[in-house]
Amino acid sequence: MIISASTDYREAARRKLPPFLFHYIDGGAYAEHTLRRNVGDLADIALRQRVLRNMSDLSVNTELWGEKLDIPVVLAPVGLTGMFARRGEVQAARAATRKGVPFTLSTVSVCPIEEVAPAIERPIWFQLYVLRDRGFMKNALERAQAAGVKTLVFTVDMPVPGARYRDAHSGMSGPHAEFRRLLQAVTHPAWAWDVGVNGRPHDLGNVSRYLGKATGLKDYIGWLGANFDPSISWQDLEWIRDFWKGPIVIKGILDPADARDAVGFGADGIIVSNHGGRQLDGVLSSVRALPAIAEAVGGDLKILVDGGVRTGLDVVRLIALGADAVLIGRAFVYALAAAGEAGVVNLLELFEKELRVAMTLTGVKSIAELDRSSLAIDPELTKAIAAEVKQVP
Ligand code: GLV
Repeated sequence: MIISASTDYREAARRKLPPFLFHYIDGGAYAEHTLRRNVGDLADIALRQRVLRNMSDLSVNTELWGEKLDIPVVLAPVGLTGMFARRGEVQAARAATRKGVPFTLSTVSVCPIEEVAPAIERPIWFQLYVLRDRGFMKNALERAQAAGVKTLVFTVDMPVPGARYRDAHSGMSGPHAEFRRLLQAVTHPAWAWDVGVNGRPHDLGNVSRYLGKATGLKDYIGWLGANFDPSISWQDLEWIRDFWKGPIVIKGILDPADARDAVGFGADGIIVSNHGGRQLDGVLSSVRALPAIAEAVGGDLKILVDGGVRTGLDVVRLIALGADAVLIGRAFVYALAAAGEAGVVNLLELFEKELRVAMTLTGVKSIAELDRSSLAIDPELTKAIAAEVKQVP
């Protein structure tokens, strides 16, 4: 068992949320092997303890494309965040801003761009999927630009949906889903009052504005499903690169060859990601995929990574293995569900403390100095990473 603030918040979220929502955020694809490996492989990486190195002037801040981050953490795009707390995207964005880190708004957020962006001083990041409806994509990009978004996160690992069997069991989808969700809401009155009643409207804010009609939760799976585009390839993204003025970050890279293609495409960054174990189950954990990718394209663009990050120690591990910054998804949503904006602020404060302790005790004074010498990688993992690095063609 992993003990962390995230696990405490996860338990609190489990108690508070109707099961269909808890399992939607907590679950992964198929048998959830990759979901578990993301967390387990990361926790297995040993840090290298160093002492007596005068660590009084430690700094944990960093910079991405000219934007300052107080800690090298970004809130990841998470669909339906506004179902986990009242106007959840706004609360999470406020928390991120208070702690000096970026918030990424999902395409399929509850609160639309126009509600979230003006609520904070810092520009939000915006995430877009590749969708059949290019009109929606163009409209979303224009609205993001008008709202002051600079950093675009482009998710490319969803040409088809990975099956999330938990969703069918929990009432998120499957037979009698609407009735089951209603029953669950009634038996979770704190959530029902705070979010179910006072957090309305519960539509897909960005999509509704484009379609000119409310798209509710029941349309969520349907709309996404109908809009996945298996025909997509790098050429389809060229107009976006031409259209978008700010940094473009490709999310969902798990292989060095794709990372090189992202460099060829002209991306400013990639996010090493298996979609939190929610797409192709059985693929490498993010932390295992990272070293070979960093070896292949490190220095050519910024490398971000997500998947399994539950503590500030995990942030140190991933940066030591080649990442420039790390995204957290489930970890912040558990805190948001449990305690709203204050919960996310608290979680980020704990991440910062953990980061400081880990850097002090590994004898590293700045994020830029973190590298593999901060790890005492266990022999098995060292072998695995060396083999993966060797495989880079
Ligand atoms: C959407 O991107 C999801 O993972 O549910």
